[in-house]
Amino acid sequence: MLEKTLVLLKPCTFERGLIGEIINRFEKKGLRIAGMKMLQLDDEILAEHYAHLVGKPFFGILKESMMRTPVVAMCLEGVDAISVVRTMTGSTNGRNADPGTIRGDYCMSNQQNIVHASDSPESAQAELNRFFRPEEIFDLGSLNMPRLYALDEV
Ligand code: TYD
Repeated sequence: MLEKTLVLLKPCTFERGLIGEIINRFEKKGLRIAGMKMLQLDDEILAEHYAHLVGKPFFGILKESMMRTPVVAMCLEGVDAISVVRTMTGSTNGRNADPGTIRGDYCMSNQQNIVHASDSPESAQAELNRFFRPEEIFDLGSLNMPRLYALDEV
């Protein structure tokens, strides 16, 4: 099924000059960029975004690290995009993430781990609504679809 998912390029990625390189990996894979912008996160949006982690001892430093610079938010689209992007992202801790995944190739940390990616259809929907207004996500129509997929895949 054609899906949309949310990716955040975290402050560590911005600071390390890796924004273009990470966007390039998603583009080369064949995911279509349906929305993209820079934004500064704050306490309120992070308490919502990381609601499942609010009670954890690392929540304070996680929040600080996510507010250090602006982030880049992307809406990526493709067949099974949610699981494809999670697979590309790799395990949370970069030290354990498989080589070939983004976290496996670009980081050594459990927290400074380059990207956030939605983990289910429900969270993709909620997270896209959290970070994008409807008019900021574009209808790409059939753009490039015949090159990306067989006729019976879409
Ligand atoms: P989580 O939703 O568990 O992982 P993922 O990003 O792989 O979906 O955690 C969200 C973020 O919280 C994670 O990317 C980095 C941070 N985090 C820590 O700083 N320390 C930890 O022990 C864990 C589990 C997460």
